[in-house]
Amino acid sequence: MKNLVLLISGRGSNLQSILQAEREQGWGIRVRGVISNRAGVAGLEVARSFGVPTQVIAHTDFASREAFDLALAEAIDALQPDVIALCGFMRVLGAAFVDRFAGRLVNIHPSLLPAFTGLRTHARALEEGVKWHGATVHLVSNALDHGPILAQAAVPVLDDDTVEMLSARVLFEEHRIYPPVVRAMLEGRVQIDGLRARIQPAAESSS
Ligand code: GRF
Repeated sequence: MKNLVLLISGRGSNLQSILQAEREQGWGIRVRGVISNRAGVAGLEVARSFGVPTQVIAHTDFASREAFDLALAEAIDALQPDVIALCGFMRVLGAAFVDRFAGRLVNIHPSLLPAFTGLRTHARALEEGVKWHGATVHLVSNALDHGPILAQAAVPVLDDDTVEMLSARVLFEEHRIYPPVVRAMLEGRVQIDGLRARIQPAAESSS
């Protein structure tokens, strides 16, 4: 049975969408744990409501980025994950961490990458006047927000959009596209060729 670990920093709505899909569709995996770098965030409650063990590893408890990354990596390794899904995890992970989990680390980013890497993506999309915005699920590589793209969804930017309206429209798509990719990774259906990724369809018999 494959093991899944999820990392969060906040609200946990993508975490919820994945745990919900796994429960409804019966992926036949073990959700080994949810780790947050912040105490007291709503996502920890989401995890508990699904009966998933939680841990807090606060980056503020560590003197350096490397020390935090190492503690996090050791906690993750102890859970023996086949896939580690970043669900609104707001720390940049160093090269040693990324290399250690290469091919197993997946992230969702609220833009149509490679546009709008980094933060404030919805506000920047409005400032730039783009007509389409969206979300991207990608493998994590050492180039920030630039690993192989596994799934994308686009939404129109409407004339009267605010950051709140646009981010809600994107978030709806995030919840739709992230769970099937996590499932495909767990089922070994993702093939990578450079930056190009191909996902094989699920077997007929599975839901
Ligand atoms: C999402 O928009 C995700 O794309 C970004 O951070 C946000 C996290 O939201 N990386 P949530 O914690 O999953 O609700």
